[in-house]
Amino acid sequence: MREAIARAEVGDEQRREDPTVDALERRVAELVGQEEAVFLPTATMANQVALRVLSEPGDELLADLHSHLFINELGGPAVHSGLVMRPLCSTAGRFSAEQVREAVWDPADTHRPRTRLVSIENTNNSAGGRVWPLDEIAAVCEACREHDLRLHLDGARLLNASVASGVAPAEIGACFDTVTLCLSKGLGCPLGALVAGSAQRMRKARRLKHLFGGAMRQAGIVAAAGLYALDHHVDRLAEDHARARRLAEGWRAAGLPVDLEQVETNFVQLDVGALGLTKAKAIALLAEAGIGLSGTVHPGTLRAVTHLDVSDDDIDLALEIAPRALGVRAAA
Ligand SMILES: Cc1ncc(COP(=O)(O)O)c(C=O)c1O
Repeated sequence: MREAIARAEVGDEQRREDPTVDALERRVAELVGQEEAVFLPTATMANQVALRVLSEPGDELLADLHSHLFINELGGPAVHSGLVMRPLCSTAGRFSAEQVREAVWDPADTHRPRTRLVSIENTNNSAGGRVWPLDEIAAVCEACREHDLRLHLDGARLLNASVASGVAPAEIGACFDTVTLCLSKGLGCPLGALVAGSAQRMRKARRLKHLFGGAMRQAGIVAAAGLYALDHHVDRLAEDHARARRLAEGWRAAGLPVDLEQVETNFVQLDVGALGLTKAKAIALLAEAGIGLSGTVHPGTLRAVTHLDVSDDDIDLALEIAPRALGVRAAA
């Protein structure tokens, strides 16, 4: 990837003169089943641009209670697009088409905001990297069409969802009006994300990119990393998923509270609350032993993530060290 970065042909991206950025945008648009894509520095910005493209101030956005959009973007939908943020309860990060239908306000009611937008997160971060089945996406999409709602995919980890489910990213992405794809997570790039949609919507997205301060110069330097990642780091996501599964099964066998059903991609959620530990205490104990886990929005729950810098040996080490660090011994 460093070599691809060094070799990148570049130009002024703001003037659309950077051939590497252009190539990445074309590649991602096709990959996610959309007409056009726009390169941005982060997935947060991609989400925010998408929402602004699809809505008017005062419109209402429906999304999972614990979605990244609602809990990790500092109220961005309200700040940048004037959206009313209405959380939906979810199971494994998923809500139903029926919930969407029930949530839509009567458009004739002049006392209610216009319900306009729905966002799905696939894989869902706070549910532990869970995958939306395609039929459930299609059902939500149908509910949106019935009520003239726009549908956004926070597909920061869309390729993890695709690899885990065996469904092509274009098939998933084509269900949506806009799609976010992140390059800096499992794909291993230093930074970068894209928002994709119709050519008309992406014209608006390019203006918003500038408005939000995301129009760059010789951005081909990082776009080259994205192209490299799409060539070399997609199929290997299956290795991350396999390592997460091995970690989860091993920890569980050692007596750590891991719900194996939750492990569908590259996250393992660990219920340290069940061990009588706070998240902060468990993170500190693990860090002391050399293992980096992070907290989640859920009480007593930590998250381990596998990615291209986590090897089989690292998993062996985590299997050996973590139970001891957390004071758990496997049943004989
Ligand atoms: C589902 C989801 N969307 C968006 C983002 C934002 O990504 P970034 O940090 O690149 O802005 C994240 C980050 O973890 C995420 O998990």
